[in-house]
Parts: sequence; structure tokens; C-alpha cells
Amino acid sequence: MGKQPPLKHAVIPAAGLGTRFLPATKAIPKEMLPLVDKPAIQYVVEEAYSAGFTDLLLITGHNKGALIDHFLQSPELEQTLHARGDQERLGSLQKLNMLPSLHTVRQESARGLGDAVLTAAEHVGDSPFAVLLGDDLIEPSDLLWKKMVQVYEEFGGCVLALMEVPDSEVSKYGIAKVTYESEMRVHDLVEKPTKADAPSNLAIIGRYILSPEIFSILRHTSTGKGGEVQLTDAIATLARDERIAGPVHAVTAEVRRFDTGDRLSYLKTVVEFATRREDLGPEFTTWLKGYIRGLND
Ligand code: UTP
Repeated sequence: MGKQPPLKHAVIPAAGLGTRFLPATKAIPKEMLPLVDKPAIQYVVEEAYSAGFTDLLLITGHNKGALIDHFLQSPELEQTLHARGDQERLGSLQKLNMLPSLHTVRQESARGLGDAVLTAAEHVGDSPFAVLLGDDLIEPSDLLWKKMVQVYEEFGGCVLALMEVPDSEVSKYGIAKVTYESEMRVHDLVEKPTKADAPSNLAIIGRYILSPEIFSILRHTSTGKGGEVQLTDAIATLARDERIAGPVHAVTAEVRRFDTGDRLSYLKTVVEFATRREDLGPEFTTWLKGYIRGLND
């Protein structure tokens, strides 16, 4: 893969408390909430594999048993489906027997995304790696990863994915201060700024390529916004001084992001994914149109 160290690790943090979804997320992680019949985490794991990452590390937290079970073999279910001759569902289950190529590590307590990424240090070692947030879906992701990997190959360092957001939403995201050179260069980042403090309208979305130096920065990053160790603050340290780990670049691609950790966004995602389905879509869409007409009356 060119002059930079190869990218094979993908880290998928899924250890957050999911408080916005309580009580549903009391016993199960929000990453297990289904989009019709497939949990969000499965989309993200499939995305990481199809982007070419061969070593996946899932960061789990206090109630993450279901996350691990989801990717384990399930002999009883498989036998039942086999006995019923239900090859389609059997195939969909067998596809999920991804452990051991999917590794897991536990974040002791939900101290923030930065702390979650730090728990990957031992597994990832001295290699550059990708991060995909377990509750964020991106479509089409192949386009985004192609661009991110190209920029990484050319410049090394870190590569972020950015999306333009309206003024009213900058306080929900990490916001980047950028200049436009041959590629977009990031000079600083501010986590959840007020509109007045936001250096731009470019928000970080949940896909990153990071250099391993981020781990030593994270070890010395004190808690930031919300009393959590913020990944954004650690990347900002790298962005302000390229001598530490090379430059921080960013790409913006024509992709759509679905934040399944937010209730309203989750609902919209379920409806959109359902209407697109070949099996359920036509009937669901007919029902939905009728339902909406009923609301307007
Ligand atoms: P969020 O900020 O959306 O997750 O983190 P949260 O804290 O669980 O959400 P609320 O606000 O309480 O509802 C983005 C991603 O980072 C992971 C989450 O699981 C999610 O995939 N995360 C966050 C961790 O793995 N550990 C943490 O300590 C915090």
C-alpha cells in the first residue's frame, strides 16, 4: 500500500452508555438496536470488512454481552433453521460467525470516546488504524473510505471525515478549523462549540484514520466537554503540531450519515431502510403513504 505503513486495523467503539435511548439501552447496547432486522453494529462491521480492514477490534462496555453473542456461532438456532430448510436465514446467521477475526476489548467505564480508543492501544500497537463509530452509519461508505485511504497514502498522519452542518447544529459535533491546499488540511478542532466559537461549519463524522501517536496523546488528555476524555481534543493536539505525528487532513464526500444513537434520527433511519427493502418495502410504503394521508386529514 504505497509509502505509508499499511492500514489493516479497524477499531469500533461501542461502549457508550447510550443514555439518550434509556430505558431501551439499560440492558442492551444501543449498537444492537435493529434497523428493521439487522442491528446497527452489523452494518458497521460489514463496512469495515468491505473497506479492506482485516483486523477488527470491537470496544465493548458494561452491558455488551449481546454484542459479543451477535458475532458468535449459534448452534441451536442454526440446527433449527437447518431442520426447517430455511436456507436464507441460516445463511444470514452463518455470515455472522466472525469471531475470531473480530476481536473484542472492554472499556472499564464509559469515560468518553477518547478513553475507548485508548483501550485499543495494546491490540493495535505501533500501526496506523481506522476508527468507525458503532452507532453511526455512512452511505455509500466505499466512496468515503477510498478517498480517506488515498489521502492517507499520500500524506500519512491522520485523516478525518467531515460534513457540513447548519449553524444550529455545530454544538452537537467536533468542529474543524481547515485550510484548502491540495487537500483539506485541519489545523485545530473544537468539541461541541457554541456557534460563536465554532471555527467553521465542518463537523467530524464517525470515521477516522489515526496514527498510533494518538495513544500517547490520549494518555495525557484530561477530561473535556461533558467530563469525558474527548477523541477530538487529542486529534486537535496532533493537528496543531504536525511534528508529533504528521499532518491531519480531512475529506468531505457526498455521503449520508445516519446517527442511530439519536432517537429522532434512529426513527428516520428505520423508516428509510424499511422503504428501501425489496421484501418489505412496497407493502410498507403503501401503508406509510396511507398513514400519512390520515395524519393530514
Ligand atoms: P456517543 O457520545 O454517541 O455515545 O458516542 P453515548 O455517550 O453512549 O451516547 P449518549 O449521549 O449517552 O446517548 C459515540 C460512539 O462512541 C462510543 C459509543 O458507543 C458510540 O459508538 N463510546 C462513547 C464509547 O465506546 N465509550 C465511551 O465512553 C463513550
